[in-house]
Amino acid sequence: MLVLGIESSCDETAAAIVRGGREMVSSVISSQVDIHKRFGGVVPELASREHLDKIVPVVDEAFARAGGVKKTEIDGIAVTAGPGLVGSLLVGVSYAKAMAFALNKPLVGVNHIEGHIFSVVFENPPVEYPALALVVSGGHTNLFHVPAPGKYKVVARTRDDAAGEAFDKVAKMLGLGYPGGPIIERLAREGNPKSVHFSIPRMGDGRPDFSFSGLKTAVSKHVRETALRPVAAGEEPSQAIKDLAASFQSVVVRSLVGTMERLAEELNPRTLIVAGGVACNGALREESRAAAIRLSVPVYFPSPHLSTDNAAMIAAAGTVKLEAGERAPLDLNADVNLRLQNLEVEDETLRRQGVHYRL
Ligand code: KG4
Ligand code: ZN
Repeated sequence: MLVLGIESSCDETAAAIVRGGREMVSSVISSQVDIHKRFGGVVPELASREHLDKIVPVVDEAFARAGGVKKTEIDGIAVTAGPGLVGSLLVGVSYAKAMAFALNKPLVGVNHIEGHIFSVVFENPPVEYPALALVVSGGHTNLFHVPAPGKYKVVARTRDDAAGEAFDKVAKMLGLGYPGGPIIERLAREGNPKSVHFSIPRMGDGRPDFSFSGLKTAVSKHVRETALRPVAAGEEPSQAIKDLAASFQSVVVRSLVGTMERLAEELNPRTLIVAGGVACNGALREESRAAAIRLSVPVYFPSPHLSTDNAAMIAAAGTVKLEAGERAPLDLNADVNLRLQNLEVEDETLRRQGVHYRL
């Protein structure tokens, strides 16, 4: 099955053609990062306008790079239907619907977060179930229990900021630029992660959830108390900034991996998945690998170009739905708050696997 994937939920316009759900025939990503950089974050109005400009050339380029595949030869179209920015999502959804109608091809809507989970299918052995999937990006921080393909239960989530958002906000505070994740990672390599002590927040109700906004406040307090000067444009960051970056990154990674390991001990997955933009982070990969060794399960990551937003992951997730006969109606709408959780505790798969969620 040859599927065209389309992604436009945030600030990347992307299209990809995927064969058999696992073979990437072509993948094109047009990033808007240079447009949003000077504002220190994504400006929704500018994002949707840019998607409108790019959607046609990006899809055409995906076909051009697929070496002779014609639009009429695809078996279906998969498009991100949510969550994301409404103006951005609508560009992809409207385009996909028009194309599906014009070519008379089946269409499916894909949840962007499910797409991130599928980003590992291209370069790893097949995922074995049950799996435990950590999705960490600029907009999301969720840990999913996946007892069977397509079944999801959120077992931990952020109560406030997403992990990537915390990287971006701390970088902005320190005058480091946007997006913050890669810059903080680079500086952290030259810093001492033990120089500033930050603690991992625990939830009052005992749930294994994450929280990153308190950490952001703690960083800001540290900056004030030590009279740390943010980095000016073109200036080399001081050792104190590098130490702070390393300490901040270390506590975020410990929080994410610690929770993943604790829940893995409880749920006994056969595969760990770490996906989303923050999965590019080398320290997170290293700690996740160490946890996987302790747990004796494999951990799969997408390669960096598949970690951040792309359409190949949307086509991969969409292929499973198309093969199962799922079809989106031509009045498919973008859903800004689309949730990825369809498992009830009384689910048959869970009963068979003997899983009881404690929380
Ligand atoms: O998945 P993504 O492209 O977009 C969303 O769906 O949000 O993720 C972007 C996020 C940004 O917050 C960025 O700072 C973060 O991923 N990120 C990183 C790294 N590379 C990207 N965070 C930490 N370390 C990195 N190396
Ligand atoms: Zn994303």
